Amino acid sequence: MEEQHVYAAIGHAGFDRLAGAFYRQVPSDDVLGPMYPPHDLEAAQHRLRDFLIFRFGGPQTYVEQRGHPRLRIRHAPFAIGQTARDRWLQLMTRALDQAALPEEPRRILQSFFESTTTFLMNRPGA
Ligand code: HEM
Repeated sequence: MEEQHVYAAIGHAGFDRLAGAFYRQVPSDDVLGPMYPPHDLEAAQHRLRDFLIFRFGGPQTYVEQRGHPRLRIRHAPFAIGQTARDRWLQLMTRALDQAALPEEPRRILQSFFESTTTFLMNRPGA
């Protein structure tokens, strides 16, 4: 399966479950909790969901609302070192389990998250 076919395989509902399962864990997380806007978590959850939908072959809603993703620039305000990177991936891996996705789209998403979390590291020492 190619990346562009993941949306057809799991649909809006699959990405919605995934982003929901990820963000449910954020507020109580000692590393990530303090980094996210406490009063804007639902909107943040939708930004992640819509970005993933756009990235994996679905509708362009994210780009229409937010413009080009420019993820490295958008993450510049957040200190992402090894600890934050590993924790983000850990929460997302758990979210992938909870979202109960079919094996192939799950593997594609997992591999995307492993490389993108590394790509977004911007404070190597932190
Ligand atoms: C490496 C660890 C990461 C940390 C600590 C982190 C942290 C954050 C924080 C604090 C926000 C602000 C919440 C908001 O208002 O939207 C954010 C936004 C966002 N993050 Fe991450 N993030 C990480 C990795 C990722 C990855 C791997 C992706 C891609 C799948 C991603 C996609 C996004 C998107 C799409 C937004 C919203 C950007 C916007 O439109 O403003 N992040 N991230």
